[in-house]
Amino acid sequence: MMNCLQSWPEPVVRVQSLSESGIRAIPDRYIKPPSDRPGFENQEHVDIPVVDLKNLFSHDRTLHEETLKLISSACKEWGFFQAVNHGISHELMKRTREVWREFFNSPLEVKQEYANAPTTYEGYGSRLGVQKGAILDWSDYFFLHYLPVHLRNPSKWPSLPSSCRDLISEYGAEVVKLCGRLLKAMSISLGLKEDHLQNAFGGEDIGACLRVNFYPKCPQPDLTLGLSSHSDPGGMTLLLPDHDIAGLQVRKNGNWITVKPVPNAFIVNVGDQIQVMSNAIYKSVEHRVIVNSVKDRVSLAFFCNPKSDLLIEPAKELVSEDRPALYSPMTFDEYRLYIRTYGPRGKTQVEFSGSNR
Ligand code: OGA
Ligand code: NI
Repeated sequence: MMNCLQSWPEPVVRVQSLSESGIRAIPDRYIKPPSDRPGFENQEHVDIPVVDLKNLFSHDRTLHEETLKLISSACKEWGFFQAVNHGISHELMKRTREVWREFFNSPLEVKQEYANAPTTYEGYGSRLGVQKGAILDWSDYFFLHYLPVHLRNPSKWPSLPSSCRDLISEYGAEVVKLCGRLLKAMSISLGLKEDHLQNAFGGEDIGACLRVNFYPKCPQPDLTLGLSSHSDPGGMTLLLPDHDIAGLQVRKNGNWITVKPVPNAFIVNVGDQIQVMSNAIYKSVEHRVIVNSVKDRVSLAFFCNPKSDLLIEPAKELVSEDRPALYSPMTFDEYRLYIRTYGPRGKTQVEFSGSNR
């Protein structure tokens, strides 16, 4: 399998270039089968829960426990919530998002210097998966390693705009801290020791990557998707969406719910590895991205992952005779080969590995 990950199976087309070329119809490569196309499923006027983190570690026991309960029910029922009062500077969030928008708006030759390959996915990319002839998504992205430190290589990060590297460093440090607080909260609310999840992720040695998504305007948004349905393979994702344009949809009872971003919130979601560690008490939920013909959209997905060579398995405390372990141990390195080979394919992987691993 490793061998087919060396290079892309066909020439790379930048979706942004396609979009800017002024085409009126999208190429067949981007046209989804009718059952995968966006529709008008969002009639329910529900939205993912919003959790105020202000009282997460308050000395007031009641407030603290209330917050934990909200997180717990969001992770069970939705796999998603929007976190407000998370402690990260709104100014830093905005500057980091805007510096990435500037990067994507720079000339193609500049971006091409960072062109990526499927060996590590680091750099400027336009597809996920290496299947020849696959139907592609309407987006470009930039992927980079933040942790562990030995994988961090700022020379592979954009050198322009000149503040880009510093902002990535500062933003990453803040988001990793927030991730630590959330792992603690999730551990406690699962009835585990407060450092269980952090330790299972590798203690100080967790993995962390940033994927900046760029969804160009699309002349036929009803026929395609910016990002196909998937669950995040890693531990936990903290998504900074664009401020004035929706795009993310979350699956709920078979429907697709379009998330309305709360200003300055992070969208937090459970990844497959927390589903495994929690023995499926917390769910990693399918989501996808729709595009539009009016506005480009930028989002920053920060993935907090278990150290890649650790065996990930359900916490012993959550396994009993009544509730046997639903997953057998597997490293994250091994696990993520699937999405890196086949691209985003709903939630098939964690379900498959549940019954067959
Ligand atoms: C992702 C993702 C959602 C978005 O990058 O895994 O789900 O809104 N992104 O860009
Ligand atoms: Ni995702």
